[in-house]
Amino acid sequence: MEEVTQKEQAYTMPRIGDKAPDFEVMTTQGMLKLSDYNKGNWVVMFSHPADFTPVCTTEMSAFAEEKEWFESQNTKLIGLSIDSIHSHIAWVANVKERTGIYMDFPIIADLDMHVAKLYGMLHPGEASTAAVRAVFFMDPEGIIRLIMYYPLNIGRNMDEIKRALVALQTADTNGVACPVNWRKGDKVIVPPPKTLKDYEATENMEGDKTDFYLIKRDL
Ligand code: BEZ
Repeated sequence: MEEVTQKEQAYTMPRIGDKAPDFEVMTTQGMLKLSDYNKGNWVVMFSHPADFTPVCTTEMSAFAEEKEWFESQNTKLIGLSIDSIHSHIAWVANVKERTGIYMDFPIIADLDMHVAKLYGMLHPGEASTAAVRAVFFMDPEGIIRLIMYYPLNIGRNMDEIKRALVALQTADTNGVACPVNWRKGDKVIVPPPKTLKDYEATENMEGDKTDFYLIKRDL
């Protein structure tokens, strides 16, 4: 069978639980291969519709301001838009000059829309030549763990992006789930029993117990 080139490959929307489709692309920090960048750490990848636009500038600046926080969570950032590398460089330099904020994480120049298509970032009803505001969370095994999509005219919520990342990491580390509006320090949910033996064990379990299927405990 003939080898399928990156451009010929059929695109399907990746879903939570899928292996993150790999790519090798030009960014503001040079060439980047996702599978290398994602080795041993989380990756948060986010698209924006266009450089030199207002909402995008606020969001990308917010990611730049939180870069150290993400690093402290063993997480690397990647931005993306369907703009050239020259546009990205000019925009990054302009924002730095005007605000002092330096977007010094890789921003993909996705002019051929390869990554935007690969990750389902093009929603033609919203825009056919600009990526919507997507956020993909990849775990250190390269599995997509959470996906967010926002339309062109609404900026994302940085607190929610950070909260979701901490919740994913906390759930993984402790084998628990996180209830509505969970924040670091709050009680977590004990996974509901899957066997009669586990069910019986819930009888003597410590914590806030609504019933056997909803038990909250401190970490
Ligand atoms: C913005 O970032 O402000 C924006 C970009 C594309 C379409 C609409 C708004």
